[in-house]
Parts: sequence; structure tokens; C-alpha cells
Amino acid sequence: MKNHNQMASTNSQGPLSGVDWFKLTSNLYFVITRPLIEVAYGIRSSRIPLAECFLWGDFVGGIICLHLDQALFRNMGIPNWYPHKATIYYSYCAILMTSGFWFWGLFQSMLRTKLIKRLTQVFIEVGLKSPLGKLPSFIFDYPVDEFTRKMRLGRSCFSLEQFEKAKPALESSLQIYIDEMRESRENGSLDIIYSHSPMPTITHIENIETIPALSFVIGKTRAKQLTTTLQKVPHLMVAGQTGGGKSTFLRGLITTLYLNNSDYSFTLIDLKGGLEFQTFENLSRIKVIPSVKQAITNLQNLERTLKERMDLLKANDCKDIDAYRSLREEDRKDSPGSHRGKLGRHILVIDEAAEMFLAGSHAQAGDIQTARRVLSQIARQGRSVGVHLIIATQRPDAKALDPQVKANLTGVVCFQMLNDASSITVLGVGRATELPAIAGRAIWKCGSEMIEVQTPYLSTEEVDRLMEKHKSESPKTYLGDKDE
Ligand SMILES: Nc1ncnc2c1ncn2[C@@H]1O[C@H](COP(=O)(O)OP(=O)(O)OP(=O)(O)O)[C@@H](O)[C@H]1O
Ligand SMILES: [Mg+2]
Repeated sequence: MKNHNQMASTNSQGPLSGVDWFKLTSNLYFVITRPLIEVAYGIRSSRIPLAECFLWGDFVGGIICLHLDQALFRNMGIPNWYPHKATIYYSYCAILMTSGFWFWGLFQSMLRTKLIKRLTQVFIEVGLKSPLGKLPSFIFDYPVDEFTRKMRLGRSCFSLEQFEKAKPALESSLQIYIDEMRESRENGSLDIIYSHSPMPTITHIENIETIPALSFVIGKTRAKQLTTTLQKVPHLMVAGQTGGGKSTFLRGLITTLYLNNSDYSFTLIDLKGGLEFQTFENLSRIKVIPSVKQAITNLQNLERTLKERMDLLKANDCKDIDAYRSLREEDRKDSPGSHRGKLGRHILVIDEAAEMFLAGSHAQAGDIQTARRVLSQIARQGRSVGVHLIIATQRPDAKALDPQVKANLTGVVCFQMLNDASSITVLGVGRATELPAIAGRAIWKCGSEMIEVQTPYLSTEEVDRLMEKHKSESPKTYLGDKDE
């Protein structure tokens, strides 16, 4: 019995007897587990700077290869601490070479701890503390694009209305601009979409009559007016649920291109009876098509135009329209008497493309096939011959929009979408459902770039005013502007 007691007392005074296990576990969690979780989150949301982390790994690898680390151990007077055993040595190399990821994770978890502390203080200040002392809990906070972030909170016992009421106080305490608060009833969470700089709720095209040729305005980001060109984005898709601002965006785009490119011609197909594009009627370089039947005939003409333009480029040994336009007039091989000297670009705009492909009783199945074929051809070959396609649709699915056409619409303006599935169809991610319900608010996607913009507002009255002087222009016939 005595021996047993002695043993127990010896054990209690062992090397680990003074260890505070709780503190050790929480420190290990903070130093190892938490950074690893942050790295996993970072990889999932693609916000981890992978290139820098790998570069760091290469740098450390270089040091190990040159045995500089061994020299460092020697200089520090601890050469025996250097891992000479093979298994330990390889683990040592692996840990050092991936330490860039760990540093990043550690930094993120430190930021997170700081944010939680700040939030706790702010929730108390703005009155989001229940009588039992409960506060909303922090779940995550990550960037959704260059300027916008999303923070998810556990709502605890608070309703969306309570958060909405506290919004101005939250904005001033956290020095942020909240675009939207959205609750999820199922998991009791609240998403706050916010930024550190304000997003305009309405914007106009600045100096619309002096925008460079080929260029058009996408919208305003939190920092600047974003423009692009038809060379960078030859074909464009404009998607979004009803009332998002698709037709308004098209109005601004058509007006900009018309005013600043005197040799462009336009075909505007508006299958909602021509109402959206009424304002462009009676302009010499614009043809407004209000019905499916007429649209099909026009598309067939355009198919011929495409072929003629390709033949013309081939005959002149030009790879694209720009090469052709840069030829001297006397060097061009045009057929005699043709009006091709000023081969201009042609813009085909279709507002609500689904109306054409799901036309049902309005059109024959054969006609729809023709429309699909021509659009696919323009999408594939139009860029080089200067025929551009701009399609707006509420329904971006395969039935309403040919996948081959969609694949060639390199630029996408996506307004708010009803559900993640539609957003994923257009953008590849559910980002468009996270947009606030503000008319004109959209995501601009071009290549891997995805950015929130407020698209410009241009009223029909303003278009009328701007186009007034062009209404008296004499009609011109350009290739691509054939009469049916
Ligand atoms: N960029 C904008 N800025 C401010 N308000 C806008 C903007 N775009 C659209 N709106 C407002 O939203 C309304 C609906 O816009 P619009 O008709 O362009 O939507 P839509 O996406 O074409 O809808 P639908 O699919 O039903 O045709 C407009 O009448 C206008 O008042
Ligand atoms: Mg519309």
C-alpha cells in the first residue's frame, strides 16, 4: 500500500506534472490546427496566394540544397540539433518547404481572432446582446472579389429586423459599407455582404460622346468606371432575372457604340414586340426587328454576309477585319462597284434570346434550327470578320441558349439571379445570387476576372436627345446591312 502511494506521488511529480493541458491544447489548436483550417478555406475560396507560397517553398528548398541551414545550426552552436536521421530529415524538409502556407494560415487566424474581439465589442455597443448575455457568433469572413467581402454570423436569438436596425451602427463602428444582409432560416445564419469603399447605387456613362472607338462602358466598380472593347470582348452575354437591368444596359451599350463609331451598323432583335428598342427606330444604321419571323430572315442574310466577308478577307490575304481596314484603298481587292471600301463592324443584339429558341407557336422548328446555326456561326467566326453578337436572356440554360454559342460569349454581365443553379450556369459560381436587389447591380466576368459593377443608367429620353442629330443622316448601305 505504501509502495503504491509512493509510486502515485512519484508520478504526480513527473516531467508532465506541471503541464496545463487546457492551455497546451488551445495553443496547439491556435498554432497548428487553426492555420491548417485557414489554408483549407483559402484553397477552397482561391484566395490563398499560391504563387507566393510556392515561391517561398522554392527559396527554402534552395537554402536546404546549399546546406545553408546546416551552417546556421553550426553557427548557433547547436549542430547536434540538425536532423541527420533520414526520416526526420525528410519531415524537416517538408515542413520547412510548406511553411509559406502555414505562415499565411497563422496570419489569417490572427486576423480572425482580432476580428472576433472587435465584433464582440461592436455587438455590445450596437445592442446585439440578449438579456442572457448571448451575442451573434462569428462563422467566417472572406473576400468574394477585389472589393467585396462576405461575413457569415450565427444569428443566435436575433432576427433579421434587429440586424437591419443595427446596420448604420454596425457600418460606422466597423467602418464598412453593408450592401446586403441575408438570413438563412435553415441554419440560423446571417450573411453580410460588405465592402470598405461604397458602391454607387446609380451611375451614368461619363462623356458618352467621347468614348474611344470600339470601347463601351460595363459599369462602375467601387473604384472606377470599367470599360472594355469589342477587340477584347467580341461577343457578350447579358443575363439576369427580370427587372435586373439587361435592356437598360443594352441601351447604353448600343448608344455608345453608335455615337462613337460612324461606320458601325446594327441589327436589334427585340422579341418583346420591339418596345425596348423603339427609341432606335428611324436611325439609318440601325434595324429594329420585332418578330421571330423577321429575325430568322435577317439571320439568314447575316449568314450570307459572314460568308462574303470571309471571302473578302481571304481574297485580300487578311487575317481579320483590322488587317483589311489597314490596307490602302488602292491595294484592296474588292469586286468592282462594291461598297466595301469602309467595311465596318456589325453588331447583332438580341434582347431575350429565349423568346426565339422557345418560340413555340411563333416559329417553325426548322426556323429555330436556322437561328441556332447562324448564331453559332457568328459566335465562332464573327470576331475576325467584324460581326459581333450581344445576347440578353433571363434563361441562360441549354434549351434557351446553345452551349456552343454560350461558350463563345467571352464577356458576361450577370445581374441578380433567382438561384445558385442559374448563377452557376452563367458564371460558374453562385455569386449572382449574392448580389443586392439593386437595379443595375451586376457581376462582370471576363476570363478569370469577376467583379461587381453598377451598370450605367441611360434613359430613353436621354437616348432620344443624343440620337436626335443622327436621325437626319442619309441611309448608308454597309455589308451586313442588306435589306430583306
Ligand atoms: N443601371 C441601372 N441603374 C438604375 N436603375 C436601373 C438600371 N437598370 C435598370 N434600372 C431600372 O430597372 C428597371 C428594369 O430594367 P430593365 O427593363 O432594363 O430590366 P430587364 O433585366 O431588361 O428586365 P426584363 O428581363 O423583364 O426585360 C428599369 O425601368 C429602371 O428603372
Ligand atoms: Mg428587358
